[in-house]
Amino acid sequence: MPLSPPQTQHLDSILPAEPLLLMGAGPVPISHAVSRANGVVINHLGETMDAVVSNVKMMGRYAFQTVSDKIIGVSGPASAAMEMAITNILWPGRSVLALSMGTFSGRMAEMAEGVGAEVTVLKSTGIEPVRLEQIREALSKKHYDVITMAQGETSCGVEMKCIPEVAQMAKELGTLVVVDAVCTLTTMPLQMDEWGIDIAIAGGQKGLSSIPGVSLIVFSDAAWKTIESRNVRQPHWCLDALKAQTFWGSQQYHYTAPVPGILALHEALRQICEETLPSRFERHRTSSIALQSGIETMGLKLFVPIKDRLNSVVAIQTPEDTDSAQIRKIMSKRFNVEISGAFGMDIMRIGQMGEQCRSHNLFKVLYALGMSCRQTGVDLDVSLGMAELELNLVIDPENLVD
Ligand SMILES: Cc1ncc(COP(=O)(O)O)c(C=O)c1O
Repeated sequence: MPLSPPQTQHLDSILPAEPLLLMGAGPVPISHAVSRANGVVINHLGETMDAVVSNVKMMGRYAFQTVSDKIIGVSGPASAAMEMAITNILWPGRSVLALSMGTFSGRMAEMAEGVGAEVTVLKSTGIEPVRLEQIREALSKKHYDVITMAQGETSCGVEMKCIPEVAQMAKELGTLVVVDAVCTLTTMPLQMDEWGIDIAIAGGQKGLSSIPGVSLIVFSDAAWKTIESRNVRQPHWCLDALKAQTFWGSQQYHYTAPVPGILALHEALRQICEETLPSRFERHRTSSIALQSGIETMGLKLFVPIKDRLNSVVAIQTPEDTDSAQIRKIMSKRFNVEISGAFGMDIMRIGQMGEQCRSHNLFKVLYALGMSCRQTGVDLDVSLGMAELELNLVIDPENLVD
């Protein structure tokens, strides 16, 4: 019997009347230019699209600070780009040292196991990055074909600051370096070529302030040579980098490209180039530091000590005897602001990526957080926190973040 059509619901009846301000760990708000581009569909092959792709590659090279022409947009979440990295350079018989300091840096190890590589996981010893000494020791004991790491571990708010040193060590040993810069790209320095990174990955929905579902990956010459020399069958078809390069390198058909997402990425990258990286880094730094001071001054505790703290996603300890889910529910219902919980940890996370780093968004999120905590019985001085935020943002007109 044919199925009858289901009862339908208009999208407007599901979405909140006023969109929630997305101040969590991603996705992040997008600019009007990005949103407009995301509403356009053009033919994915042809002169117009060629011009768009060529611009995305050119501007992407600036974002990653590389001259590599092996820059590919992936139709899929950042995890798909991570999978493209792993499945192209690892196969049975090849080895990887996966540095893990949480959910995302550990994910590449899972992917490597999936393709049958020999996987060694080196974990951080607490809420901190894997330390240089640990890495040096592991690399001195055995040769690895690949080492993987995340610049920012979004799940707990830890930054891996020693990537240049690790990459240099790895280079000397002939080990390929893979860096997940999903939440960090364009929020803080990353110099792909100068540091010696072989594969770098970014998602659209975080630092780049584009839409989720279209990601970017760049390969160095050394990584590309490894892929070309591969004589084991590649198990993936969509994620085969050589096939993807037919579209991204020669404008030939691989699969139907996610046109609106690429147009959105074009606009996000254009805005990054117009802002310039140094100004963008400074906007992110000032914004995140001001927010952190406001949070602490109000009476809440930050989760990660300052020396390892990630500025792109700020983790806050949930106050004792309260429930983070309850606080976040009040924030969204009463203040129209959304922040993130965590993966099994008693923390709340506020994103500081792209469009989140605007002073009007900072005041709104800090006020919403403070007042929602107070509503659950936490004794906080919200006004003092707001004053601290203001002081840090506007004391010097140069530091205005809008
Ligand atoms: C550092 C990091 N890596 C990878 C991912 C995975 O991204 P996606 O959810 O787009 O697959 C995330 C997502 O939060 C992330 O923060």
